[in-house]
Amino acid sequence: MKITILYASQTGNTEAAAEYIQDGILARYPFIQVKLADVREDVEISFLEQSDAVIFGSPVYFTSMGWEMKKWFDNSFRIDLHGKLGAAFVTAQSAAGGTDTAIMEMLRHMLAKGMLVFSGTDPKSAQKFQLGAVGLGKDIEQYAEQFEAFGACVAQKAVQLFGK
Ligand SMILES: Cc1cc2nc3c(=O)[nH]c(=O)nc-3n(C[C@H](O)[C@H](O)[C@H](O)COP(=O)(O)O)c2cc1C
Repeated sequence: MKITILYASQTGNTEAAAEYIQDGILARYPFIQVKLADVREDVEISFLEQSDAVIFGSPVYFTSMGWEMKKWFDNSFRIDLHGKLGAAFVTAQSAAGGTDTAIMEMLRHMLAKGMLVFSGTDPKSAQKFQLGAVGLGKDIEQYAEQFEAFGACVAQKAVQLFGK
């Protein structure tokens, strides 16, 4: 099983969140191959296309996903993500800063690609993710546990759906 965490990040918050998500996946499912992919660099398309799940992360810019992630979606129409599990996370300055709308935008792009969209919510988990995972403010490390739990929940769903 392979999982790609594809993210955009200008000042490091979303990148840190992506790393916490990777940690959460590997702590619970060490057999999964996880790749962090920065949209500003060359994304390894073969690994992405072999992934059973793709987790997208972006900073919130004016209540939307950031332009770098939007650009990646708009440029990736030839990349086949059909049937893969998809989930989203954002980092933002404030709770009222448009985190839901930014996550929904990413989920809509995943739907348009024919992905199976998942919020990350697990009824048995203490952490609930109604749309996806969110980290706020400059002290992103405060959200480490939540992002780790989110990664584990998405990985659990991927294993349920696709096997090891
Ligand atoms: C151009 C721009 C627009 C932003 N718009 C919002 C916003 O609408 N709502 C919000 O809560 N934070 C907003 N922010 C704050 C970022 O979402 C936040 O600092 C984020 O964690 C940055 O992620 P990064 O460190 O991965 O680049 C904005 C930041 C920038 C640079």
